[in-house]
Amino acid sequence: MEEKINRLLQMRQQALQGGGADKVKKHHKKGRNTARERLAMLLDEGSFEEFDMFKTHRCHHFDMDQSEFPGDGVVTGYGTIDGRLVYVFSQDFTVLGGSLSETFAEKICKVMDMAVQNGAPVIGLNDSGGARIQEGIESLAGYSEIFLRNVRSSGVVPQLSGIFGPCAGGAVYSPALTDFTVMVRNNSYMFLTGPRVVKAVTHEEVDEETLGGAAVHTGKSGVAHLAADSEEEAIASLREIFSYIPQNNMEAPPRLESDDPPEREIEYLNTLLPKSPNQPYDIKEVILNTVDKGRFSEIQPEFAPNLVVGFARYGGMSVGVVANQPQVLAGVLDNDASVKGARFVRFCDAFNIPLVTLVDVPGFLPGTVQEYGGIIRNGAKLLYAYAEATVPKVTVTVRKAYGGAYCVMSSKHLKGDINYAWPSAEIAVMGAKGASEILFAKELKQNPGEAQRILAEKEQEYAETFANPYVAARRGYVDDVILPSRTRFRIIKALTMLENKQDSLPVKKHGNIPL
Ligand code: HXC
Repeated sequence: MEEKINRLLQMRQQALQGGGADKVKKHHKKGRNTARERLAMLLDEGSFEEFDMFKTHRCHHFDMDQSEFPGDGVVTGYGTIDGRLVYVFSQDFTVLGGSLSETFAEKICKVMDMAVQNGAPVIGLNDSGGARIQEGIESLAGYSEIFLRNVRSSGVVPQLSGIFGPCAGGAVYSPALTDFTVMVRNNSYMFLTGPRVVKAVTHEEVDEETLGGAAVHTGKSGVAHLAADSEEEAIASLREIFSYIPQNNMEAPPRLESDDPPEREIEYLNTLLPKSPNQPYDIKEVILNTVDKGRFSEIQPEFAPNLVVGFARYGGMSVGVVANQPQVLAGVLDNDASVKGARFVRFCDAFNIPLVTLVDVPGFLPGTVQEYGGIIRNGAKLLYAYAEATVPKVTVTVRKAYGGAYCVMSSKHLKGDINYAWPSAEIAVMGAKGASEILFAKELKQNPGEAQRILAEKEQEYAETFANPYVAARRGYVDDVILPSRTRFRIIKALTMLENKQDSLPVKKHGNIPL
């Protein structure tokens, strides 16, 4: 027996080496941790249980039978984060560049299947050169099997991805299908085809960072949701997101004890807004001052910052916050903001996370750039997401809610459960200036000398009539006009009242969101 135990221990020891000491040294030199070191940072200490440590590839081409590594380049299993079950896989770049073989894919599929069966999230730590070139079609088949599971698990169990190195070729589509992706600045890349292939095909010269670094994907493409300065920080972000979300779509999100008093008055909010409605202010002041302990985990802060989205807690309840940001582009909805908001709203709805929406929006951004970019189709996505969402929806109109953007931003008409407005709210079809220019165009043209005076008068008249919350309140589109200082209390009361909300959509295979 002793001999057998020693053999097992020896085999385990070999598997723990990954691609070997030299490869690990080279990897560390690039400022990167190994697959196992990353798992140790992600999971509660001592909680990791590994599967398929001895699994190897079955490829014989290109002398591959000479380079077999137990575990075949990916570490898989389960563990806990803050005591909650999570399935994990962590790709090992030190083994054949973390490239994906048929058996590598089988290992990932095993944990993905278990996650769905047992109702727990999956976190994938990616670091891979893509399909294992020596295998060819088997690795493509392996990718397809993973993609299939990503899609079929979508909306059933949460799926999170960390990108910790190059992620090339097929390696990018699995993270793209997951709910949230975190990258490391200046040390992780995502691209379908690397710089060498780009140069060969298009003659474009581009480096890895410019082609697919964290700044590109969190700022321009919207592929990734967060960028971190180190692997440790990226893993902390994954753990942070995990803390707000439930295990699966049949559960409520975790509720924490909160020692931040719900009835806390916030006098500061009574004086936050500038005198002129055209002056900006930071909507995050409203978020940070009203949520528990000022803790807000923003998602996609660098992409479409004219719409702020993220997770927070009110009275210990996990919520998704969506808020127009008057500080950027006056808070308008444009193509990127619409898509960003729609995706976040749909995530929250899929996983029973209530939505708190703060509205200060002058409308959709006009112009050819937006129209050619599909603002009709993209704006419709946000509208669709809010209309389809059956989770509790609490909306506070802080200032402007104009036109189509009023309808879209969780209005009463899209089944907003509780719609409050601050006394500063202006809920109307458009701003006073634009409205007066259209309504009184003839009069202005006929009296060019008097145009300024007439316009100012009409503007004031329109503003007095419509630039307030009471027209909407009289019709019940706004449930109450509230004191800004009482916003936290009123939101918590509403969320508590809605805790057992039951609402469902008509039976259908699935809707047809305008993609
Ligand atoms: C097999 C691979 C590999 C791969 C890297 N390696 N990628 N082995 N298949 N796809 C091996 C290298 O040969 C090398 O082995 C080791 O991993 C480390 O790679 P390096 O190139 O030395 O590292 P680095 O300089 O950091 O460059 C990393 C890289 C580069 C940017 C990922 O290796 C690269 O460009 N690889 C190819 C990426 C690619 O085009 N993948 C697409 C595959 S097709 P040794 O033994 O020398 O250490 C695909 C299609 C799927 O994925 C589509 C599904 C939808």
